[in-house]
Amino acid sequence: MAFTTGLLIFLVPFIATMASSEPLAAVVKGVNDFTLDFYLTTAEKNGPGKNVLVSPLSAALVTAMVHAGAKGVTANEITKGLRFPEDKATLEDGFRALHGVLANTPNVTLEIANRIYLDKTTKMKPDYTKTVTEVHKSDVESADFMHNHESERQTINNWVLKKTHDKIKDLLSPGMVTPATSMVLVNAVYFFGKWKEPFDREQTYDQDFFVSKSKTVKVPMMHLTKTLRYAEIPQLKAKAVELCYANKDVCLQIILPDAKDGLEKMQKQLREGAFDLSNIEFYPTKVQLSMPKFKLEETINIKDVYQKMGMKAMFQPGDADFSGISEEKLVVSEAIQKTFMDVNEEGTEAAAATACVARRKRCVEEPLEIFVDHPFLFRLVHSNSLIFIGSHFEPTVPSEDCAPVEDDVEEQVDSHLNDNPQSDDDRIHHKRSHCEML
Ligand SMILES: *[C@@H]1O[C@H](CO)[C@@H](O)[C@H](O)[C@H]1NC(C)=O
Repeated sequence: MAFTTGLLIFLVPFIATMASSEPLAAVVKGVNDFTLDFYLTTAEKNGPGKNVLVSPLSAALVTAMVHAGAKGVTANEITKGLRFPEDKATLEDGFRALHGVLANTPNVTLEIANRIYLDKTTKMKPDYTKTVTEVHKSDVESADFMHNHESERQTINNWVLKKTHDKIKDLLSPGMVTPATSMVLVNAVYFFGKWKEPFDREQTYDQDFFVSKSKTVKVPMMHLTKTLRYAEIPQLKAKAVELCYANKDVCLQIILPDAKDGLEKMQKQLREGAFDLSNIEFYPTKVQLSMPKFKLEETINIKDVYQKMGMKAMFQPGDADFSGISEEKLVVSEAIQKTFMDVNEEGTEAAAATACVARRKRCVEEPLEIFVDHPFLFRLVHSNSLIFIGSHFEPTVPSEDCAPVEDDVEEQVDSHLNDNPQSDDDRIHHKRSHCEML
């Protein structure tokens, strides 16, 4: 059994309790349903026995911005995948309200930021700019991917590093941003909360943790005896306990299968819809809790996960329709998330960042055209030494010989330099008359 946990477990119930308005409730319900699918798909993709830490909220906030400019099948797939309300006004009011709720979370630190880096040459449609700034609280930064894609990638990574209090490094790896990149949509989430009931450091010591039915490893185990909210979930053959932070609406829920190796099976049951985790009925119970301190860090290829979840069109140059963003033909080339979580005696520090990179379609679909149909300069270079330099203003060979001659020239010039300085080859002489030997 892997010790599996997720941001999903703590952000969701907290948002749910705040969902008083109807659009907000619709968006929150959508995010909750998406959360389970996103988590399970990531877990299935990671394979058995692997840790999972995802931030569905961070993914949803970026994807909502991508969705705001999507049309047709591209938009419909995202609506279905993220369980967004179909009605545009409800969706926008819901996200506006969600940002309001998240921005107002006393007694803990919860910082959320959206930003779009936009290439200088890409013109955003005014309606799209209005939606991302007003509904999704994003700012829009100008970037020059065309000429400085590497330094712009570092600029984005530095912004993420700063917004996550140095927890998420190198979100975008080399190659993810190219001169064809048109925009990068980024979200960063940072959370720090102290437990309402902290663990006593003196009560932490090494104990066995079952990594499988029969294999154990020693982990630093924290201990606490208090009245906590507890639940039994017979449908999943599991127990749950809730640890809340200084803000009583923000809690970490631990869902522990009864069987030592029961997590895989529990995930299967959740996939089959055996139980809805938002319906856990907690009640206050005096418990003696032993729980490991842990620190997790993960990188999730959201592009793979989303495609498994049925969101494909946005990544396909032939299908992607982002005509709501710009006149330019765009496709999402990368979608990546990094997460971090540190759970210890005092509380929890967690961070996540998600980026979607959109590029112009034509750069990969069509090779760059170079048509040498007018005068040009040429240089023949051998290991950094210039052997020839010349210019070509007018055709000098009969047209039927053109192609082979061009090939032959370089080869024969080489051999000519090596051992046959006085080559009699007519074609070479012909060319040389326009070259200047250096
Ligand atoms: C924040 O902390 C204060 C002081 O401990 C407490 O009275 C209040 O209920 C807390 N707020 C929330 C939302 O938990």
